[in-house]
Formats: sequence, C-alpha cells, structure tokens
Amino acid sequence: MEMNKRPRRLRTGAGLRKMVRETRMDKSSLIYPMFIKEGAGIEEEIPTMPGQYRYSIDRMPYALEKLQKAGVGSVMLFGIPEHKDACGSGAFADDGIIQRAFREAKKQFPDLYCIGDVCMCEYTSHGHCGILNGEYVDNDKTLDYLAKIALSQVQAGADMVAPSDMMDGRVGAIRTILDANGYAETPIMSYAVKYASAFYGPFRDAAGSAPAFGDRKSYQMDYHNSREAVKEALLDVEEGADIIMVKPAMSYLDILAKVKDEIHLPVAAYSVSGEYAMIKAAASLGYIDEAAIICETAASAYRAGVDLYLTYFAPEIAEFMDEGRIG
Ligand code: PBG
Repeated sequence: MEMNKRPRRLRTGAGLRKMVRETRMDKSSLIYPMFIKEGAGIEEEIPTMPGQYRYSIDRMPYALEKLQKAGVGSVMLFGIPEHKDACGSGAFADDGIIQRAFREAKKQFPDLYCIGDVCMCEYTSHGHCGILNGEYVDNDKTLDYLAKIALSQVQAGADMVAPSDMMDGRVGAIRTILDANGYAETPIMSYAVKYASAFYGPFRDAAGSAPAFGDRKSYQMDYHNSREAVKEALLDVEEGADIIMVKPAMSYLDILAKVKDEIHLPVAAYSVSGEYAMIKAAASLGYIDEAAIICETAASAYRAGVDLYLTYFAPEIAEFMDEGRIG
C-alpha cells in the first residue's frame, strides 16, 4: 500500500515513544497539600479521602520526611484550629496552628518549600471565606484580614502565600502588606480562577470548613463561564500575582489551556479533594486501575499546560516518575 505518512511509525517501541513525547513532567512541579490539626499524637485518616491524614504538629515531621524521600519538595499547608470565631482570628494569630506548623516545618526541613493557603473558612464559625455583613461576605472588609493572614504566615516562615478566598482585590492587598513589611521577594500564587465546585466536598469534611448556611457562589466562579477565567487571571496579574492557579483541575482543563494562552506567568492546577476521592473510591471497588488512572490524569493536566500541579497524589506521582511510568 502506498502511504508515506504513517503515525504508527513513532509508536513502535517504548524508547521511541518516550523520545517523541510532547509532554514532559518532573517532580519539581509537584505540590502536596496537607492538613495540620491542633493537638498531639494525631494522625487520623480522613474518611472521605482514604490515604490522607490530619496530622498534629508533632506528627507532621514524619509525613514530611516521607514526602522528601519521595522527592516532593513543596507543600501547601492547611490549618485546622480548635476554636473558630466570626472573624477567623485563629488564621492570623502568631501562635495559630498554621503559624506554628510553618515554624516547625522550616526548623526541621529548611529546604522544604512551604506554601500557605490564605483563607478564612477553616477559621470562621460560619464557615465562609470572609467577614460577614448579614449573610453576605463583605469584600472590602475581608481584604484587611486576608492581608494580615498572609503576613502572619510569611512571618512564621511560609515561602509563598496562596490566597484561595476569591475576594476582589486581595492579591493587591496582600502584595502591599508584604512589601511594606520587608517581604517584597515573597511570591503570591493566586487561586485566581476558582470555581464554586462540588469537587471540594471531601476537603470541607477534612477541614471542617463547610459553610453553615448558603454556598460560596457569590464569590467563587460559576462553572458555566470560561472568558471570565481570563478576566480573573488578568486582574490578578495586574495586582502582582506571580503564579496563577486554576481549580479544580480535571473538569477544567479547557480553562487551564485558555488561561495559559493568555498570560505569561506560570500556571498551576489544583487537583482537588473530590478528584482524589473519586479515584480512590472507584479503585477500591475494583472498577479502575488506580495507578494507571493517577498517571493518565496527571499527564492530562501537564498536557493542558500546567506548570505546577497541586495534588494529594504527589508522592505516588513522584514514584511513578521514578519508575518511568510517566514523565
Ligand atoms: C479554602 C480552600 C478550599 C480548598 C482549598 N482551599 C475549600 C473551599 O473553597 O471550599 C479546596 C481544596 C480541595 O477540595 O482539595 N477556601
């Protein structure tokens, strides 16, 4: 048969397939999210996220050591405080759970890159991501609090802050307070494109951060929208963001690719708790091959253009990279 173009020619062996691969991934782009809880001796599995744990500060180092051994050098820490109040004061207390966690992590693992999630929902009694005015989250009042939270995390040792609240103008507010306090070199990774998503369900169980009433649709984005993602990303670029995040990942790869086309900053994707939980649940029933699905899902995010990948599967992905299954 006369045929000069045969795409299969480049698929004839594993070595060749790897040589012509379009998407390359490496461990330095992985970020592992972790939950740190008040108390001692705690390492409790999160029921809706099997394989993920809430650690007390004294147990955290064991988990970090394992992570470092796997070759994952970056973490995103979430605090679970004992007490909550209307203005989330635990989020910016000098001796707050997350501040102590950063101090301990940096003391024991100076090379570990520590990122702080800047938000209020784990710390407010009402579970919303800001200060309430009636039942509405007051944007401008919340900005002062977010700025204080970011500063307190950086003062405690966070290498980078990542605001996830979705208030307008928060990147600018955080940049201003960090600069004024001598932290002009501390980067901000903005959860710029964060959708109001049911995929956060297991996280809210893990962190006890579900809103006590209503939902987050007045601040997180409507998932019918795509051009709005570009608008949000560009606004945060203007305000001084260093990295733009899209969240969730799996159902939003069109958004990721579009944002990547429009901006010139590194783009991150957060493969969230619901994505993790679905894979774990289906795998435990024997419906899917867990390792194969983890690899394929991760590669799809990188193929869509992700530069940084936040995922609860970070240690597994690092291992699969070592084994040459992906990468
Ligand atoms: C805090 C925050 C949330 C997540 C990251 N930061 C929860 C939310 O917005 O309700 C979700 C992460 C995940 O589901 O894994 N606002």
